[in-house]
Order: sequence, then C-alpha cells, then structure tokens
Amino acid sequence: MDTILNKPQRRFLAAISSLFLFIISFNSAFAADAEKLFKQNCAVCHSLGKNKLAGPGLEGIGTRVPDDAWLAKWIKNNKEVLKSGDAYAKKIVGENNGAEMSVFTHLSDEEIAALVTYIKNPPQPKEATTAKSPAAGEEKAEEKGINPLAILIGVIAFLIVIIGVLRGVAHSLKNIQNERMGLPGEEAIGPWREFKMWVVNHKTTTGVIVLFILGTLLTEGWYALKAIGVYEEYHPTQPIAFSHKVHAGDNAINCQYCHSGVEKSKTAGIPSVNICMNCHKGISSGPNTGTTEIAKIYEAAGWDPDKAEYSKPQKPIQWVKVHNLQDFVYFSHQQHVKVGKQDCANCHGDIKEMTTAKQVSPLTMGWCIDCHRKTEVPGMKDNPYYESLHKKLAEKYKGQPITVDKMGGIECGKCHY
Ligand code: HEC
Ligand code: HEC
Ligand code: HEC
Ligand code: HEC
Ligand code: HEC
Ligand code: HEC
Repeated sequence: MDTILNKPQRRFLAAISSLFLFIISFNSAFAADAEKLFKQNCAVCHSLGKNKLAGPGLEGIGTRVPDDAWLAKWIKNNKEVLKSGDAYAKKIVGENNGAEMSVFTHLSDEEIAALVTYIKNPPQPKEATTAKSPAAGEEKAEEKGINPLAILIGVIAFLIVIIGVLRGVAHSLKNIQNERMGLPGEEAIGPWREFKMWVVNHKTTTGVIVLFILGTLLTEGWYALKAIGVYEEYHPTQPIAFSHKVHAGDNAINCQYCHSGVEKSKTAGIPSVNICMNCHKGISSGPNTGTTEIAKIYEAAGWDPDKAEYSKPQKPIQWVKVHNLQDFVYFSHQQHVKVGKQDCANCHGDIKEMTTAKQVSPLTMGWCIDCHRKTEVPGMKDNPYYESLHKKLAEKYKGQPITVDKMGGIECGKCHY
C-alpha cells in the first residue's frame, strides 16, 4: 500500500473503510435483535422520536433518566420502581396522567440490556414511520434486517474506496513513468482539493446530482408527512385479553351479537360488560387464559362468582379504541353494511382469525375513494329506495357498471360537512 498511496490518501481510505464497517456492524449485529424486541414490545406505545403515543417519545432518553440501571429496572418492572417511591418514576407517571406501562418481566436481562442500548442510540430518527406504528411494508423490510439507506451508503462508500485506490495506482504509475523519463515526481493533491477542482470543472453534472439528492429528500419528507396520523396495523393491548378468534372464529358468534349498531347506526359500538355476562355467567374459564381473563369480566360487572350474584362495585372496562377516523370525516356503518352490503372483512380484514383486534386498512381519504371508484352499487334492481335514481343512472351510464363514485360517492360533501 505504501508504494501506491500517499499519506492523505491512506488516511482518507482508512476513514472511509471504518465508516463502511461501522454501518455494516451497526446494522446487522445488534440492531436486528433489539429492533425486533422494540417493535414487538414497545412500539405500540413509544416512538423513538419526539412523538407521543400512549407513552412519551424516547428521543434523548439517555439524558433524562437517572442512569442505565434505572432504565433496565424500569423497563423490566415499572410497577416495582414506582412502589419503591422513586421520584423520577412518579414524575413521569404524573406527566402522562397516570397512563400505565406494561411490565416486561418475561424479558431476559440480556434482552433488557439490548433494549436500553437501542433506545439510547436508535438507528436513525424515523419520526414519521415510528409514529404510525409498523406498517405492513416496513415490517417486511425490517424482518430481513436490511435497511436500504444503509446499503446505499455502503455502496457509495465502497465506490469511493475503489476510486481512491485506482487514483493512487494511476498516480504511482504516472510517477514511475516520470522517473523513467527523468522528469521530477508529481506531487499528489489531496482528495478533497481534487474533489473541489472536479466540481469546478463539472458544474452541470454537480448540479444534476445536487438536484437529485434534494428531490429524493423532498419526496421522502412528503411521504413521511402523509404518514402522520395513519395507524395501519395498530393493535393496542386491551384491558382484557379478548380474542375475536375464540368468539367470532372458533365459536362462530355473529359479529352483530356484540356490535349491534352496524345495521342501524353510524357506529358499530363496543359491547357492554352485560353482553359478556350473558354468556360468561356460565363460562368461567377459557382454552388459552384459563380463569384469569374472565375473572376480569366479573370484576368489571361486580359479579361474585361464588355467591352467583351482583354484589360488588362495578368497574367499567376501558377498551382501547383501535380505529380512529378523523373527526371531520363522516362515516356510517349502516350505509356500508346494510345499504352498501359490504362485508366487515372488506374493511377490517379477517377479524375471525385475530387474537387481538387490529387495524388493517389505512383509513385515509385515498382508501375510501379508491373503493368507491371500484365498487358497484349493490342491489340496483331490488332496492325501491333507489329506484328512480338508479333508473336515471342506468340511462346515463348505459352498459357501464354503476360504481359508488357515479352516484356521487366521491363528492367532498358526502364525507365532509
Ligand atoms: C402500554 C403502553 C406501553 C408499553 C407497551 C411500553 N411503555 Fe414505556 N411507558 C409508557 C408510559 C405511559 C410511560 C410514562 C410513565 C407512566 O405513566 O407509567 C412510559 C415510560 C417509559 C420510559 C420513561 C420515559 C421518560 O420519558 O422518562 C421508558 C424508558 C420506557 N417507557 C421504555 C419502554 C420500553 C423499552 C418498552 C418496551 C419493552 C416500553 N416502554 C413499553 C407506556 C408503555
Ligand atoms: C363476543 C363479542 C364480540 C364478537 C362476537 C365480535 N366482537 Fe368485535 N369486538 C369486541 C370487543 C369486546 C372489542 C373491543 C376490544 C378489542 O378491540 O379487541 C371488539 C373490537 C372490534 C374491532 C375494533 C374496534 C375499534 O376499537 O376500533 C373491530 C373492527 C371488530 N371488533 C370487528 C368485529 C367483527 C368484524 C366481528 C365478526 C367477525 C366481531 N368484531 C365480533 C367484541 C366482539
Ligand atoms: C355469546 C356468548 C359469549 C359472549 C357474549 C362473550 N363470550 Fe367470551 N367466551 C365465550 C365462549 C364460548 C368462550 C370459550 C370457552 C371455551 O372454549 O372453553 C369464551 C371465552 C372467553 C375468554 C377466554 C379466552 C381464552 O382463550 O382463554 C375471555 C377472556 C372472554 N371470553 C372474554 C369475553 C368478553 C370480554 C366478552 C364481552 C365483550 C365476552 N367474552 C363475551 C362466549 C361468549
Ligand atoms: C366500508 C368499510 C367498513 C365496513 C364494511 C365495516 N367497517 Fe367497521 N369501521 C370502519 C371505519 C372507517 C371505522 C372507524 C370509525 C371511526 O373511527 O369513527 C370502523 C370502526 C368499527 C368499530 C369500532 C367502533 C365504532 O363503531 O367506531 C367496530 C366495532 C367495527 N367497525 C365493526 C364492524 C363490523 C362488525 C362490521 C361488519 C358488520 C364492520 N365494522 C364493517 C369501516 C368499516
Ligand atoms: C370496501 C369499499 C368501501 C370503502 C373502503 C368505503 N366505502 Fe363508502 N361506500 C361503499 C359503497 C358500496 C357505498 C354505496 C352504498 C349505497 O348504496 O348507498 C358507499 C357509500 C358511501 C357514502 C354515501 C355516498 C352517497 O353518495 O350517498 C359515504 C358518505 C361513504 N361511503 C363514506 C365513506 C368513507 C368516509 C370511507 C372511508 C373512511 C368509505 N366510505 C370507505 C363502499 C366503501
Ligand atoms: C369517500 C369519502 C371522502 C370524500 C368523498 C372526500 N374525502 Fe377528504 N378525507 C376523507 C378521509 C377519510 C380523510 C381523513 C384521512 C386522512 O387524513 O387521510 C379526509 C381528509 C381530508 C382532508 C385533510 C387532509 C389530511 O390529509 O388530513 C382534506 C383537506 C380533505 N379531505 C378534502 C377533501 C376534498 C376537497 C374533497 C372533494 C374533492 C374530499 N376531501 C372528498 C374522506 C373523503
């Protein structure tokens, strides 16, 4: 190497290759496991940036908590830290209005340590993507543990190394040639100076590259902004481990038994504890959770299973809402389920297979409109309510399928008023 590269070149090369190694090791070795742990256990409530979800955003967490040992203890069992009367713990619970963090006693000390390192040094600020909770596409990329940006940086770094080596070789060859011809050796210019000279000589190319980078950053930013408030795949932990799979799947209980509003009102509604008690007075244990979860129903209903009577105080169950359409949008279940004859699964996915209810559709305007453009208005023939309207539409769009948009389903006023 000595003979080929001069000193600044060698230093440059060393810096570049260590950057390259850093990116590789950073990405594959520890980030993969800790990132997965975080996604599985924490991402529902915490973003790695500033965004507040159920819990505070974890940006800069290393600088505000007492120390790493505190962090480890808190993550493992925050209830214990609270019980000990810890001042900082009391402060953050106060700041979060007493919202509760889950306990992670099932994680090993190594896993907790990995999480501590991970949240203190998150891979890169991905404010928007963490804010929306893992979206389907992202999860796939993450599963493979490959970050496209890191690959790009890696490839660029690699190319720079190659160019550096080639430059060195060319320079040495030139010097050897000069020596043969009795000319003085040419002094090497540092790569930075040469880069500047190159920029000055290639103004157009530089301009194009700069524009390209700017454009990429702008589009990325635009998509990040659009993703704010989109909670696809959101599946919060519920106060009772209610499983749709056990009820709507295995036991084939009709959705409307519990969500009785779907055919007659705007909202589907979440069943009250009395509905649970219709069956659970008699069913006190389940196949997966035994008696623990059903006992919580009794507690909520004030039911004393030993005496078989309602003799205790009631405590309403605080279900966490999964779907949260913006307030300025009008959406009616009746319109879609009863009139539009849409199956629940079209919008909610295969709930019958879910142990925890989750949001599978993005609930964006594009999503609503897309379906209105594609879906034919059902019951064109046998719905007297629409008869005259439908006759007019059928005449206007002779032979074409009458989709929801053709009857005005994409007019702003239908959804916003
Ligand atoms: C159910 C939601 C929930 C989950 C899941 C959760 N947290 Fe929390 N976390 C909270 C809340 C809420 C707080 C604020 C303190 C409080 O009210 O208990 C908090 C506080 C914290 C704090 C202190 C924040 C600060 O600003 O000082 C850290 C660190 C933390 N959580 C890490 C984690 C890690 C790591 C995981 C995953 C292993 C996790 N949390 C999972 C809800 C959650
Ligand atoms: C035995 C009662 C019961 C039955 C049957 C049932 N659900 Fe539910 N459903 C619940 C409860 C309780 C919740 C609230 C807890 C949760 O989100 O898991 C819920 C929540 C939901 C949610 C999420 C609501 C939100 O917060 O945004 C959807 C969507 C849903 N159910 C759809 C269905 C569909 C579709 C079916 C039929 C395939 C069905 N449910 C059958 C009880 C039931
Ligand atoms: C129409 C009857 C019915 C209603 C209503 C009903 N359940 Fe159930 N529930 C069942 C049946 C059946 C089982 C399964 C029992 C078994 O397989 O041993 C069950 C099991 C469970 C389990 C245990 C699951 C497991 O895997 O261990 C929980 C928890 C539960 N129900 C919660 C609820 C809650 C909360 C409500 C009210 C929102 C509710 N149930 C309403 C019939 C019902
Ligand atoms: C055309 C799409 C679509 C169909 C079909 C649909 N839903 Fe929904 N559902 C939504 C949207 C959008 C929300 C969110 C509403 C909100 O946040 O105001 C929602 C919310 C819910 C909720 C949460 C409580 C509420 O009322 O906001 C439940 C439960 C639910 N749906 C159950 C059902 C069931 C059961 C069916 C089938 C009988 C069904 N949905 C069919 C789109 C749909
Ligand atoms: C799975 C397909 C589907 C999705 C997704 C969907 N819709 Fe619809 N929507 C329909 C169908 C079908 C009708 C026609 C019902 C009828 O015959 O009146 C309809 C009708 C409507 C209407 C009445 C239109 C009119 O001209 O009277 C409104 C308002 C509406 N939808 C709002 C929404 C909103 C808001 C969303 C998104 C949150 C949404 N829809 C998502 C299928 C869908
Ligand atoms: C079929 C229903 C539907 C129709 C028709 C519709 N919107 Fe929306 N719109 C939505 C939903 C759902 C949201 C909220 C989801 C989101 O933020 O992407 C929304 C959000 C918006 C927002 C807030 C932007 C944002 O990203 O938060 C604006 C502004 C808006 N709509 C304007 C319009 C205008 C103008 C029209 C007519 C050209 C229109 N909408 C027609 C359903 C509809």
